[in-house]
Amino acid sequence: MSSYPVLSLEEDDLTITQETADFIRRALKQDLSAEEVRDILFKSREAIRITSNLSKALPYPCIRHFHFVCFFMQRNGIYKHVIDYARKAPADKAPVVMDLGCCMGTDLRKLVQDGYPTNTSNTNVYGCDLQHEFVVEGHSLYRDGPDTKSPTPIKFFADDVFTLPLRSETNSITSTGSFGLKDLIGKIDILYAGALFHLFDEEKQVDLARRLITLINVDDGVNEETIIFGRHRGSPTGEKGIMQMEFGKTFCHSASSWKELWQGLLVEAFGEKVLERLRIEAVVEELDPDSTSSFKSRSFNQGWLFWSISLRRPL
Ligand SMILES: C[S@@+](CC[C@H](N)C(=O)[O-])C[C@H]1O[C@@H](n2cnc3c(N)ncnc32)[C@H](O)[C@@H]1O
Repeated sequence: MSSYPVLSLEEDDLTITQETADFIRRALKQDLSAEEVRDILFKSREAIRITSNLSKALPYPCIRHFHFVCFFMQRNGIYKHVIDYARKAPADKAPVVMDLGCCMGTDLRKLVQDGYPTNTSNTNVYGCDLQHEFVVEGHSLYRDGPDTKSPTPIKFFADDVFTLPLRSETNSITSTGSFGLKDLIGKIDILYAGALFHLFDEEKQVDLARRLITLINVDDGVNEETIIFGRHRGSPTGEKGIMQMEFGKTFCHSASSWKELWQGLLVEAFGEKVLERLRIEAVVEELDPDSTSSFKSRSFNQGWLFWSISLRRPL
């Protein structure tokens, strides 16, 4: 994993946008002022700092700079289609969606707020993160843990994606012990990974992509599409390679090398026939500093790879 420098926290790390304030008001069902929203978010960041046992700093920019309330999932070109597709499914057969590396789970809560259907048994929206404390802080921030008056329909849990077997090894898996990723092998219709791939070097990014393929559902059934989508640092030069980012050196794919990578791995998993049923979109973009909070440095805004893969089933 690329090492994040531990940078200091600043008072102006957060600029509250209308979108962020509205989301927090709806999530907490309270008519909060912008200042109250700001206080709540600062307290949440502080709680993470304390539970992470760090003195005056936090490693991930997604928390340090409050990117967890910038709604990057919603900025992906396929987002609206994800919701429309899920809403077309018959009641209680909505596609199973998972955010892998969900941090506090804000993107998923926004997805549900934006109309993604949840089934009555609360078994079609999942958030997984390596850090159990992020899941706990998510419930604390949004006041929706299992023991609250209005528990979230989203099932959050902690697990490490690299403990998943590869698709070719899944026959040997028996489901024992606590609930985890192994229980969702082959069951995820829509899989999201935000700011996850760029934590790892080139080889490990390939390994991560193979583990995501283990999770997806490609069976024939009610839902006829499988979607994997995400965003992370990409190369703005058009060539893949190691880039110096404000938080350290990171291996970055270009839009075309990212497409090639996934095409190769999907053919490896499902054979050449997958090519007729596959659509991959990838674009490296500069973020609009006015539409998201706390993007002060221009270099930080550059080089974000937004991508999506759509597979028509059955494969
Ligand atoms: C940079 S944050 C991104 C959070 C959020 N997805 C977003 O887009 O803002 C990366 C997240 O991935 C999680 N993560 C890192 N390694 C992981 C692993 N091996 N398995 C599951 N989650 C992991 C981290 O704990 C962290 O919450």
